[in-house]
Amino acid sequence: MPTPQPGHRRSRGPMAPTALQITRKSDLLPEAEMAALAPAIEDIERLKKERNAIVAAHNYMTPDIFGVVADITGDSLALAAMAKETDADVIVLAGVHFMAETAKIVNPDKTVLIPDLRAGCSLAEGITGADVRTLKAQHPGVPVVTYVNTSAEVKAESDICCTSGNAVAVVESLGVDRVIFIPDQYLGKYVATQTDVEVILWDGECMVHERFTGEEIRSHRASLPGVSVIAHPECPPDVLEEADYVGSTNGIIHWVERNHPERVMMITECSMADNVALEHPETEFVRPCNLCPHMKRITVDNIRRSLETMTHEVEVEPEIAERARTAVERMLAVGRRES
Ligand code: 13P
Ligand code: SF4
Repeated sequence: MPTPQPGHRRSRGPMAPTALQITRKSDLLPEAEMAALAPAIEDIERLKKERNAIVAAHNYMTPDIFGVVADITGDSLALAAMAKETDADVIVLAGVHFMAETAKIVNPDKTVLIPDLRAGCSLAEGITGADVRTLKAQHPGVPVVTYVNTSAEVKAESDICCTSGNAVAVVESLGVDRVIFIPDQYLGKYVATQTDVEVILWDGECMVHERFTGEEIRSHRASLPGVSVIAHPECPPDVLEEADYVGSTNGIIHWVERNHPERVMMITECSMADNVALEHPETEFVRPCNLCPHMKRITVDNIRRSLETMTHEVEVEPEIAERARTAVERMLAVGRRES
């Protein structure tokens, strides 16, 4: 596999292992906190009716959003598909900017709101449309597969998008020997272990998942008899080698639903285990707790403000949106393909 092309700035330095967090159902949605949020939740429900709006929430939202305020929850692929299908006039995207932009690309007639414009993504910030044009010039004729964690401008330069729920199938759907895979080098490396297609990488990474190490997972596993380790493919290869299952956030949720493990360590953004724990009291959830600062910018309060003031409206320049739409639609046609 070729070495990653120069991307943005970071490399994995030595990091202190993250402390292990154990979730108990009683810690989730505490009564006092829910009472304090009740007026905001009532406002949100009223405003949703008045504006024919829905709140579509990513699996990394906190339990008060994921379990109470959201009408639809899911991973990036589910949220993109939702945007195509919903009858609502307004979608409040409780997630990060690329997810709101993807919803707008898929369904330009809808009003798409994001409660905090600063909710970005280290992967999306690590590559530009000009970078993709340079890569294409370096590898003429090689198709570009782009993870949805990118800007509309980058999607517009791409042949097809993918998510962690269908990356391998998308790469193989092209029927070629080589693809350029951007921008997540770790997802790209994972794809390369699952297919014979050669994968040309970019050196982007997720600031949350790159922090996990194989060593810390091994040491936690040693102290937790019988634990199942399930990991998101944005993790580095040494982490994925330790995993019993690798999948998207929806894949991880479905794995727990199917297997009812006694004890599970989720190697992904920390809030997700809280959300899954609400549905699975039979399972003990333990994990090193890394939070995504971008996802955590979305709160019940700013969702209310977003619906009240109809801000911040996400717009994509029509010419870019049209080209990006082709890449996203091709991804949706492949659909979800994971166990
Ligand atoms: P999923 O599509 O698996 O939910 O992943 C999105 C993401 O941003 C993970 O960090
Ligand atoms: Fe981006 Fe990582 Fe946050 Fe997901 S967890 S939104 S990939 S920074």
